[in-house]
Formats: sequence, structure tokens, C-alpha cells
Amino acid sequence: MQALTAHPAEAISGSARAPGDKSVSHRALMLGGLALGESEIEGLLEGEDVLRSAAAMRALGAQVERQADGTWRVCGRGLGGLVEPDAVLDLGNSGTGARLLLGLIAGHPMTATLAGDASLSARPMARVTEPLIQIGARFAGRSGLRLPLTVIGAAEPLPIRYRLPVASAQVKSAILLAGLMAPGETTVIEPVPTRNHSEVMLRHFGATLRIAPDQDAEADGASGTSGQAITLVGQPELTGKRLSVPSDPSSAAFAAVAALLLPGSELRLTGVGTSPARSGLYTTLREMGADLQFADPREENGEPVADLVLRAGPLQGVAVPAERAPAMIDEYPILAVAAAAAQGTTVMQGLGELRVKESDRLAAMARGLMACGVTVEEGADSLTVRGAGGRPRGGNAQPIATSLDHRIAMSFLVLGTVAERPVTIDDGMPIETSFPDFAGFMNRLGARIAPAAEAAA
Ligand code: S3P
Repeated sequence: MQALTAHPAEAISGSARAPGDKSVSHRALMLGGLALGESEIEGLLEGEDVLRSAAAMRALGAQVERQADGTWRVCGRGLGGLVEPDAVLDLGNSGTGARLLLGLIAGHPMTATLAGDASLSARPMARVTEPLIQIGARFAGRSGLRLPLTVIGAAEPLPIRYRLPVASAQVKSAILLAGLMAPGETTVIEPVPTRNHSEVMLRHFGATLRIAPDQDAEADGASGTSGQAITLVGQPELTGKRLSVPSDPSSAAFAAVAALLLPGSELRLTGVGTSPARSGLYTTLREMGADLQFADPREENGEPVADLVLRAGPLQGVAVPAERAPAMIDEYPILAVAAAAAQGTTVMQGLGELRVKESDRLAAMARGLMACGVTVEEGADSLTVRGAGGRPRGGNAQPIATSLDHRIAMSFLVLGTVAERPVTIDDGMPIETSFPDFAGFMNRLGARIAPAAEAAA
């Protein structure tokens, strides 16, 4: 445990690049390991979650190594060439790593056991095991099919057509990864579009996918649906590729919100991924009145990228529609911090999934904000925050419980940065999963984050 304190700062200014996208990094290692030949990955996130996926791919027979210049080289075995691992695959804190690997292994005739930390071992896995059983895999685990979990992959995986009961890119991706090994076409229907990094990267590596509006929803007469059917043609030839990983919009969000809230701040965050399926926070911040631009838009291996340019100014509370949740699912904690400093009330709805993330993020944010003097109401799947119209109080009496959740830890450090009084969290270690050197990154831009003991001295 490493308690950290964020002291109130004056401004967050300068130019910086937040680390590589976590979602894209996991997928690059996995698809690189499945493809035939060599892939070279630039800008890979070297956070603990992604390093666990790298270790897992090595255990499955791929060569994965960091080169002296910081790029990563993956030598894949070709589709179907992965080997059974000798030991338990430990995915640490990573839900994405665990769920995507379950899919990948489910399509191979092998047995593997996946384990993780206390947070990951509490997270639901039935959402992936259910469709993977239809593909032909079997699972053995404790009640509720949580980790540790053994997957017995299908000797002859079947192509399936599956409608996602929850909006989840992890479940979609697990099915597509298993579907790679099946003959014929695997279709995933998502009622609301979720992040499409798997689809973009599968195409980049040579797979064929068709994406069409969801016919069934139209036939049902469902109104306002933007559902889609994603069809993967099985058993493609995937070949090694070069790719560069955009900076993670979910990680950039922390400095971005701090800069918007601290008067006088001017910040440029370079090379940020701007996929519409990930940009919900930025849409919401604009609706709140933020001066925020995507400058110099470009594309890198199929992913849209831009520099995020921000200037501080007052924010207004807003109502965030439930349909936006998939496009900003990881950003509600930091949006709640922005809402705490905005003028007026912000209402966020459709947040049920936040309860099954690295922690129960709805409860964690409500509890922590209250401890920092913010008025909040926690609903079953909603959060209402009354803004201070300036610096929130901060000054929590007890350290904020981060519960092995990196985004809770970083959000409260941003709260301390923009508050009247310091905010202390009980443990900064979980931040290593997605944003190594977060404190250094923020401090170089003007924040004052330090070990809590030092702060007390
Ligand atoms: C992710 C999908 C999201 C997100 C997670 C990363 C991914 O989870 O919260 O941090 O890389 O596919 P769900 O698919 O469970 O919503």
C-alpha cells in the first residue's frame, strides 16, 4: 500500500503524451501472437495489466519482447498454433486480459487456468462463459464462474450468432477471438455500439468483417436503436503487422479535467485516440461548456487520433443520457470530479455496469465525494452530483479507499489537485495497472502529488 496526497495546484499546463491505450495494447499483443510472423508495436502501454497479457501470450507460445528502442516485437505462431500453457495464467487486476484470453483459448483445443487478484476474482465471468459454451468450450470454476477458472477449449469450435445481453466490448471481443478458429461466420449483435478496437485491429491483421445495422431490432420495431451486427469470417489468414498504439483517452482524461477546472490552465495532450465509441466524456465536457478541441486529426492503423487541446473555463452541470454510457464507461469517476466543481447539478444515468468494474465505482465515488464535502446521491444505477461552482472542499479525514481500482485512485488525486484542501488516497499502487508514473506525469504539468507520509512531514 502506498498512500498518496494530492495538494491543491494552481494550473495544469504544457504539452504531454499520456501513455498508450490499454484496450488497444491488449489486443495488439493477442492478435500479434495469433498472427503468422512478426509484428512490431510502437507505443504499447507498459502498465501491469498489459504486461500480464504479454506474459500470458508468451506462456501460450508466442515470442513477445521489448526492444531497446521501446517498441515491442511479437512473433506469432499463426492461427491455431498456440500451445497449452504449463502454469496458471495470472491476469492480475485485468478484466480485459482475462475475458479476451478466455475467448482466445476457448477456440483452441487446450486447457488453461486463469487467476487474478482479489478485485478480478470478484468480477462476473458468466457473461463470457455463456457464449463461449455455445462455441463448444467448457469451464470449471467456483460458484458464479469467477476466477480462478479453468477453460477447456473446443476441439471443433462452432460459429455462433449471439446477441449481447450487456453492452460489453470485452464480451464481444471474447466471442470474436473464439470465432477466429471456427469455420463459417460468427456474428455478434450489440444493441448499443461499444468500443470497436477488436474489429479495427482484426481487419488490420487481415480478417474479413461485415458490420451492418441490426435487422432484428428494426423488425422488432425498437425505436431509436443504433444496434449493429458484426460478422467475422472464420479461419482467416492473419499475418504480422506494424502498428502504433494511440494515447489512451481514458488516461488523458485525468489531466484534461484538471486543466479544464484550474483557471489559467492551457494543455495539449498529443496523439489521443478519438474513436467515437470512446469519446463520450469529451462530448459531455463540451456540453458542460468546456473549451476543448481535437486538433490535427489523423488516422493510425485504422484508429482515429488527434491532439486534445484544452483551456480552463467554468463548467455547467448537465444530464448525461444513459445511452452514452458505453462510450464513456471508464470515465464516470473523473466526470464526477468535474461535476463536483461545476456550477449546478450533474445527473448521470445508466451506470449499472459501474458496479462490476475493478470496484463498485458508483459506491466508491459516492462515498469518497461525500468524504470530501461534495453533495452526492447514489441511485441503483445513477449518480447525482451537486457542483460547488468552483473548488470543492477536499480535506478528507480518512484516506479514500481505492479498493484495487486505478481509476478511483487517479480520480481522487485529481479532486485533490482542484480542491481547496488536499485529498489523500489509501493506495496509489493500483495506478500501475494503466498509468505508470501518473504522479510524475501530473506533477510535470503543475500538480502536487506526493507520498502521504512526505506530505505530513
Ligand atoms: C474494455 C471494455 C470495457 C472497459 C474496460 C476495457 C475493453 O469493459 O470498461 O476498461 O478493452 O474491451 P466492458 O466491456 O466490460 O464494458
